[in-house]
Amino acid sequence: MSIVVTGATGHLGRHVVEQLLEKVPADQITAVVRDRDKAAGFAARGVRVAVADYNAPETLDGLFSAGDKVLLISGNEFDKGRVGQHTAVLNAAKAAGVALFAYTSAPGTLKAALADDHRGTEEAIMASGVPYVLLRNGWYHENYTEQLAPVLEHGAVVHAAGEGRLSSASRADYAAAAVAVLTGEGHENKIYELGGDEAWGFAEYAAELSRQTGREITYNPVSVEAYTGILTGAGLPGPLAAILAGVDASIEKGELVVDSGDLSRLAGRPTTPLAEAIRSALKG
Ligand SMILES: NC(=O)c1ccc[n+]([C@@H]2O[C@H](COP(=O)([O-])OP(=O)(O)OC[C@H]3O[C@@H](n4cnc5c(N)ncnc54)[C@H](OP(=O)(O)O)[C@@H]3O)[C@@H](O)[C@H]2O)c1
Repeated sequence: MSIVVTGATGHLGRHVVEQLLEKVPADQITAVVRDRDKAAGFAARGVRVAVADYNAPETLDGLFSAGDKVLLISGNEFDKGRVGQHTAVLNAAKAAGVALFAYTSAPGTLKAALADDHRGTEEAIMASGVPYVLLRNGWYHENYTEQLAPVLEHGAVVHAAGEGRLSSASRADYAAAAVAVLTGEGHENKIYELGGDEAWGFAEYAAELSRQTGREITYNPVSVEAYTGILTGAGLPGPLAAILAGVDASIEKGELVVDSGDLSRLAGRPTTPLAEAIRSALKG
């Protein structure tokens, strides 16, 4: 019996494995990865490493054992049919008789196109009969704090979210919730709506950046069309730019405000304030 984490060499997956290592012996953790070399650090610390690809169901055979607790971290290949990819992992887990199947989803309030794959995956999970947990992760602070270079260069935060607000949290916070579920009891068939304790808007974000950098940084709200053009102009593929601009439209409508308190409750501590995430990012 193992705690099995897919996407273990991704940003969120690395946080999950690191935090699991603080709670359970390394040989009870299996990191599922596409590239064994990227998991060499985990292997050196005694974590079991398995190689599999959501696109190749044969690589999923034998990945899971009866009684395992599994965290499926949603994939990032938007053009490859993520519902099919995730269902392949689910089918392998079901065939093995896993004890728990946790999935990193999106807030129930999110109507943007980005959420479609998550809703499709959730339906497959709930129809499967496998004991599940839906970790409906809100937005990451890092979606913004890892993109500071153009903001600092132009002295402007540009988004198509009007005066909308969102309650983001750090990846480490969402990882803490996942670890609580994977190492705790009584989470079967629960849906957690996860988001940061404090909601904020882009004008506040710009003001906090100004405060911390000592430079004037303003928020320039633009239309969804203009923002899509800015993103494609910066080199993003059209479909991805449309998805991200769609998220901004959802933020304007308040669809990424999560006020359930589930995240800090599961993590057992307050979520990371945005100002702290900015501080870490500016330190580099
Ligand atoms: N809540 C948010 O704000 C937010 C923002 C962006 C994304 N997300 C979602 O949350 C997920 C985790 O976030 P993240 O920051 O950790 O993203 P990430 O760093 O891009 O990690 C994605 C992980 O999925 C793995 N993966 C992708 N396709 C796969 C496949 N076909 N087979 C096996 N593994 C595959 C990747 O493997 P490799 O390590 O081999 O590349 C990687 O480990 C993302 O994939 C996306 O679905 C959420």
